[in-house]
Amino acid sequence: MRTQGLYIGGAWQHPDTTFTVTDPWDGTVVGRVASAEAHQAAAAVDAAVAADCPAAHERARMLRRTADLVEERAELFAQTIRAEAGKPISAARGEVGRAVDTLRLSAEEARRLAGEAIPMDAVAAGEGLLAFTVPRPVGPVAAITPFNFPLNLVAHKVGPAVAAGCPVLLKPSERTPLTAGLLVECFDEAGLPAGMLNLVTGDPGTVVGTWTDDPRVSVLTFTGSASVGWSLKQRSPAKRHVLELGSNTAMVVADDADLDAAVQAAVTAAFTYSGQACISLQRVYVTPGAAEPFLERLAKAAESLVSGDPKDESTVVGPLISAEATQRVRSWVEAALSSGASLRAGGDVTDGVLRPTVLADVPSDASVMCEEVFGPVVSVNTVPDLDAAVREVNASRFGLNTAVFTASTATALKYVRQAEAGAVLVNLAPSFRTDHMPYGGVKDSGEGREGVPYAVRALLDPKLVILGG
Ligand code: SIN
Repeated sequence: MRTQGLYIGGAWQHPDTTFTVTDPWDGTVVGRVASAEAHQAAAAVDAAVAADCPAAHERARMLRRTADLVEERAELFAQTIRAEAGKPISAARGEVGRAVDTLRLSAEEARRLAGEAIPMDAVAAGEGLLAFTVPRPVGPVAAITPFNFPLNLVAHKVGPAVAAGCPVLLKPSERTPLTAGLLVECFDEAGLPAGMLNLVTGDPGTVVGTWTDDPRVSVLTFTGSASVGWSLKQRSPAKRHVLELGSNTAMVVADDADLDAAVQAAVTAAFTYSGQACISLQRVYVTPGAAEPFLERLAKAAESLVSGDPKDESTVVGPLISAEATQRVRSWVEAALSSGASLRAGGDVTDGVLRPTVLADVPSDASVMCEEVFGPVVSVNTVPDLDAAVREVNASRFGLNTAVFTASTATALKYVRQAEAGAVLVNLAPSFRTDHMPYGGVKDSGEGREGVPYAVRALLDPKLVILGG
């Protein structure tokens, strides 16, 4: 069991008040973690404001060193993610590999920060003047991260901020603070100066509330639910926000699709880590010629997935983050069934794990269709044609990633043009993500983009220099 304090101004502090972190699979206590009070959250802002930001080449070196340390400790990270998030060990190892990439990409970006020359003589008033911009870090960044990627989504906020030269105030999910603590240790060992990264765990209202109300905090970057994300923005309109919020990801399967590929993509996107990702697949719209064969194969594939203990190398579907989450998702499935949906696979809970669930003919106002499920449940509805599919996809208040499966370039391009989403994937699972591509949504799915180069840009302001005389 790990005991973890607060990391403020380059030193670990161990206040008396703590909370416990438990393994979602068997309930064992895996950590005891400091619970900050408001004055400690404020002290972290003091430390961030006072931090002495190193030069870009130094920041790049520290990011590279941190990436190397994470790689050296990969198994410790993976087992910690498995224990506190209940993530199957094979997926946890995959996350660690991605986080190493995210940190190395951040190191590269740190060395590329450049301004631009302004062509001043484009207007008469500018003749004879020389002007250029210098990228300046915007200031302290409050980073609030979710439980589902306890390492990589932290790396996605801390890596770009360090690259840009912005001090960070990090508040990881109360469910998964231990992985974040291990990452902070790596940054510390890599020599990141005091105050450049501060870890403050505890009650979100206290910690995030303090940072949201503090005018010295310039940026609030949040990954989590739409309701919390938008309320943080409303509470701090003068700050810059990067909001990566939820979705109810949709995929369209046309009659001419490669059904094996579509089924494989649906299984991966709907059931990996029990559907606990913002881009997990929730809704599939299939045109009539493909509908029944797609459903049959999807149900069969779902039934064959290994569910259970995340320690088992072959497990794909483990427990949800909490018993309450399992209860909520199950009740949404039951409500869908009572309102006329049919059950094609799963639906039951075995050893505390909700089995991969496939529903068909689901009313569009069922919670499993219009809310974010964050569980291993996919709903498949038949639609008359592509136009109807687009209407259904766009009827959602969310718009993060979406996918279309078709052999026709014209159909794919039409979908690309019409789908309201941050990303459209053609003949690829909608949950596909690499860590350097732009990632973010439209509508209630958020604002701004992550993906290392894009996240770095959001943290810089161009300071204009004009040379007269
Ligand atoms: C998320 O749940 O927003 C992150 C998904 C990913 O990085 O793969």
